Amino acid sequence: MIAKNPDSQNSVHFKIKRQDGPDKPAYWQTFDVPYKPNLNVISCLQAIAANPTTSEGQETTVVVWDCNCLEEVCGACTMVINGTARQSCSALIDQMREQGFGSRENPIVLEPMTKFPVVRDLWVDRSRMFKQLLRLKAWVPIDGTHKLGAGPKESPEMQDERYQLSRCMTCGCCLEACPQYLKDNHFIGANAIGQTLYFNEHETGKNLQGERLDVMMEPGGISDCGNAQNCVKVCPKEVPLTLAIAKVGRQVTVHAIKKFFMGK
Ligand code: SF4
Ligand code: SF4
Ligand code: FES
Repeated sequence: MIAKNPDSQNSVHFKIKRQDGPDKPAYWQTFDVPYKPNLNVISCLQAIAANPTTSEGQETTVVVWDCNCLEEVCGACTMVINGTARQSCSALIDQMREQGFGSRENPIVLEPMTKFPVVRDLWVDRSRMFKQLLRLKAWVPIDGTHKLGAGPKESPEMQDERYQLSRCMTCGCCLEACPQYLKDNHFIGANAIGQTLYFNEHETGKNLQGERLDVMMEPGGISDCGNAQNCVKVCPKEVPLTLAIAKVGRQVTVHAIKKFFMGK
C-alpha cells in the first residue's frame, strides 16, 4: 500500500523515468513506498505495482520492469539506479538510505539502460547481446548424447580463469559504461569478447576458435575497443574483461597472420 502524506522516515521516495512504449516520449513520475527493513528496489516496484499512485495522489499505470532470478544471476533486472547501471534485485534500500538516497529531497532515481531500446518504462530489449553470442558460436560443439569418454584435461589455473569468465550474466552493465558501444553502431562489446575467450580456452570449445576470431575481425569487432576499461570497473561479477580483451586481441593477431600465410 502506498503511504498517504509520507515522510522520509517512514517512506522511500522514488523518481522513475517512464515511457509508455518504444517510440513514445519519456516522462518522470515520483512514488512513495512505506519503509520497512530489508527492502530492495524490486520489492518497492512490486509495492508500486500493487497500488500505482504517484506521490501527488494521482492514479497511474503500473511501472514495468524485467526480472527473473531475484539473486543477481540472470541480469534481467538491470537498470540505471542513481546514475549507475546495476541489478535492481540486489539494490538494497537500507544501504541506499545510509548513502543518503530515498528522501524527498534526494529520491532514488530509476531509469532504463540507455544502450538498449526501451520496451516499456524500465524494461529494455537486450536481444542484441544474445544475437552476438549466437554469431560467436558461444558454445562447446558436441553432437549427440552418446558416451564420449573422459573429456580433455584442464589445468587448475585455466579452470580458475574460465570460472571467472563463466560468471558473465549478460546483464549489459559493461556496455552501458562503454563509450564505444552505441545504440546505432555495431561494436560487439566487452561481454562478447569475454565469452569468446571463455569458449576459445575450452579444450573442445576451441574447435570453433577460428570462426569466433573471424567474427572478431569483422567491422564492429575487437579493433573498435578503445581500451578505456570502463567495462571492467562496472562489471558486477568481476569478469576479467581487461584480460579477455588483451588475450582475444593476441588471438586475433595470430589468426590474421595464419590466414595471410595460408592465403585465405
Ligand atoms: S561482463 Fe559483467 S557487466 Fe558485462 S554483461 Fe557480463 S556480467 Fe554484465
Ligand atoms: S575497454 Fe573500453 S572500449 Fe573496450 S569494451 Fe571496455 S569500456 Fe568499451
Ligand atoms: S532478477 Fe536476475 S539478476 Fe536481478
